[in-house]
Amino acid sequence: MVSLATDATLGLTNLDDEITVDELELEGELPPWLAGSLLRTGPARWDLGKQTVNHWFDGLAMLHRFTIDGGSVSYANRFLRTKAFAGAKDGRVGYREFATDPCRSAFQRVASLFDPGFTDNANVNVARIMGKWVALTETPMAVTFDPETLETLGVTKIPATTGGLAHPHGDNGKALSMGVHMTGRPAYRLIEDDRVVGKLPVRRPAYVHSFAMTERFAVLIEHPYTVNPITIPLSNKPFIEHFEWHPEKGTRFVVFDRRSGRHVADWHGPAFFVFHTANAYEEGDDIVIDLCAYDDPGIVQALGLQRLRAGEPIPWARLERFRLRAGGAVERTRLSDEPLELPRIDYGRVNGRPHRYVWGAGAHSDFVDTIVKVDVTTGETTTWRDGYPGEPVFVGRPGREEEDDGVLLTVVLEPERAASSMVVLDAATLTELARARVPHHIPFGFHGQFSRA
Ligand code: CO
Repeated sequence: MVSLATDATLGLTNLDDEITVDELELEGELPPWLAGSLLRTGPARWDLGKQTVNHWFDGLAMLHRFTIDGGSVSYANRFLRTKAFAGAKDGRVGYREFATDPCRSAFQRVASLFDPGFTDNANVNVARIMGKWVALTETPMAVTFDPETLETLGVTKIPATTGGLAHPHGDNGKALSMGVHMTGRPAYRLIEDDRVVGKLPVRRPAYVHSFAMTERFAVLIEHPYTVNPITIPLSNKPFIEHFEWHPEKGTRFVVFDRRSGRHVADWHGPAFFVFHTANAYEEGDDIVIDLCAYDDPGIVQALGLQRLRAGEPIPWARLERFRLRAGGAVERTRLSDEPLELPRIDYGRVNGRPHRYVWGAGAHSDFVDTIVKVDVTTGETTTWRDGYPGEPVFVGRPGREEEDDGVLLTVVLEPERAASSMVVLDAATLTELARARVPHHIPFGFHGQFSRA
């Protein structure tokens, strides 16, 4: 019998082929109303020839497209043609990645103080910003691409001097993002489309991957995993290794008014680590934030490539609710005991407003192996297990009344076939409706979005 570790390792193995398939082999039946494209990004090459990167997050970015049209599914995949991609041609990383550094001379390190040369290896998320599809990573570099051919169109620095997050929010046709500015005078910055609309100076910025948005507020969750940014450019230590965990400091919830851009309030709560918020909303004078909480940042090291390939266990997040009380208290409640990461909601309808359901991916073995649905009003939790699925992207049925009336689209690695499929699940019951088989394995990725036809 093949061990689980060996099975999951395929999802952390290079994929070199770029293909286009007009019609994937389909099992089951697609809902007749479902039409559009699931666009995803993720790492697809970690072994560069002379160097293997240190971390799952550091593989070269590849886009994947599944287009559902007239009851069939087409597929394409392409590497992003970025500076990072070109720079790795000689077998080593050319830019500073999350946990992997190029070998740089002392002169190059000093030069980087003036021009940090951010990586454009946009393997974290895709979004539509100011009318263009872009792939994003945790630098200010956005890579525009053609959503049909997946051709790389260009790299833009948006906005010019601001660190960006790979998880912008969208509202009224505007993209709202938060930046952690690390050079010069460090600051958290609130960004609308390509404009900085608010900022808050900070001595030791936290590692921030996403933020929460309500109808009136943007909330940055400053967990105590922080850095003295002056140490970053001059050393040869990878970016993330500069961050230190100070649990005694607890977590600060930094609240900005979206309209004025002003920093209007802080709440102080217990120490925890977070990558992803699920949703947030106002209730009376309280702010409620649901997020995937870890006890500490051990997950960052646990997702190191060598550790994952060796099948070492991963600490996993739980869905928790933080209620910021008008009086200053922070109340913390666990919403489900099931591990849950990569959270998704019915974004178009409930983003910034009260929600009932959160879907996500969970892990019980050596990697993500479960799709989870949580009813946050009752705690009722439903799961689906088969192979190694990724983030479940919710697509609602047009005209629906119930919040969970729709489907989840998730890319599943099937160890027995040594290849991946896009699986369509009923979002209410998590029963499988259809499965479109891809002829190759799709390396484990992070995030995607559905573009309706
Ligand atoms: Co993310």
